[in-house]
Amino acid sequence: MPYAHITGWGMSVPSKVLTNDDISKMVDTNDEWIRERTGIRERRIAEERQSSATLGAEASIEALKIAGLLPTDIDLIICSTSTPEHIFPATACIIQDKIGATRAGAFDLSAACSGFIYGLNMAALAIRSGSNKNVLVIGTETLSRFIDWKDRNTCILFGDGAGAFVLQASEQPGGAYGAVMHSDGSGGDLLTIPAGGSRNPTSELTLRTGMHFIHMDGKEVFRFATRVMAGATNEAVEKSGWKLDQVDLVVPHQANLRIIEAAARGLKMPMDKFMVNLDRYGNTSTASIPIAAVEAVQQGKLRPGDKVVFVGFGAGLTWGALAAEWTGPKQATRRVVKLEWFPWIAPIRSFLRRLGRAIEGIIFGRKS
Ligand code: ACO
Repeated sequence: MPYAHITGWGMSVPSKVLTNDDISKMVDTNDEWIRERTGIRERRIAEERQSSATLGAEASIEALKIAGLLPTDIDLIICSTSTPEHIFPATACIIQDKIGATRAGAFDLSAACSGFIYGLNMAALAIRSGSNKNVLVIGTETLSRFIDWKDRNTCILFGDGAGAFVLQASEQPGGAYGAVMHSDGSGGDLLTIPAGGSRNPTSELTLRTGMHFIHMDGKEVFRFATRVMAGATNEAVEKSGWKLDQVDLVVPHQANLRIIEAAARGLKMPMDKFMVNLDRYGNTSTASIPIAAVEAVQQGKLRPGDKVVFVGFGAGLTWGALAAEWTGPKQATRRVVKLEWFPWIAPIRSFLRRLGRAIEGIIFGRKS
């Protein structure tokens, strides 16, 4: 049975920064309160031209560069997002087209902030079953488009961004080991975007009552999160046959520093074993774990051979964890076609396919 190694990682965040002071000009809050209650100092906000697909595509190209693969080497794309471009088509398919991953199947996964863990586990299982060889897992969000900028309970928390991992099959032991995925739909109402789906299709009423924005019972979500983070980490470690003291780094969902500190206390682990970067990005939902992992690698906190646990929680309610032995990039293969060409080639290919379809439509339309 092949192992599923993480061989590439990338991130993309908008350059526009929104500080706590900026938010205090919009709602009744202040920098001190936000820092003390959440640990967040600033977050990134997408420009009009940016979206979940553009950020996701940029993160994917970065991940492919490190893995030394071309988009055409990828055979499956799993895109986790709660802020998809549309209800359909899937954001995964839009990214597939943008990067030119012409051989890949592509689908979206909806498990809110736990989505990247779910996606990683699905990718690892697809590889271990022998069904896929090279899988791209993306977590991408533009939550700023669903925030009520008059609601101080939610607008202080969230930010935009994307992260991506490449997983590859290998006979060498390592990569993804034990994982757990949990859910409790009875808490679905604690964190929700009530309108825009089939239950409450967009209408004048849903817009007037702000049902298209994020609604959250912060206290209850906080209580739930502090309850499950340590438990899920323990489960994934146990399933891997490891002991907790063998874990080099925990990369938790970046929602609130107090939640991460509670998890550390629950696990009796020091805070320096937890990657934290929510001060600069806020809660980027499903993108937060891959973004934190990329920065952990850049800061030398995550090195080849390290035992790492990714752990998250989110709307649904959902929660989960995945333990992995960090692999690092494989040796890049020399190629005639270069990865750098793909962001240019892919749109031309996409345009030609659409043009071909239009011409076919005209020809067959005339004949019928
Ligand atoms: N600025 C100033 N005061 C505020 C603010 C604010 N932004 N927000 C609330 N307050 C006030 C409240 O009105 C309350 O005042 P009161 O005591 O006079 O009524 C007081 O501050 C305390 O409010 P709490 O809600 O008790 O504050 P708490 O310490 O719980 O922090 C927070 C609120 C930050 C939202 C916290 O509950 C939290 O982080 N919850 C988890 C949220 C989360 O992680 N969500 C994402 C899940 S992941 C996903 O799937 C997207």
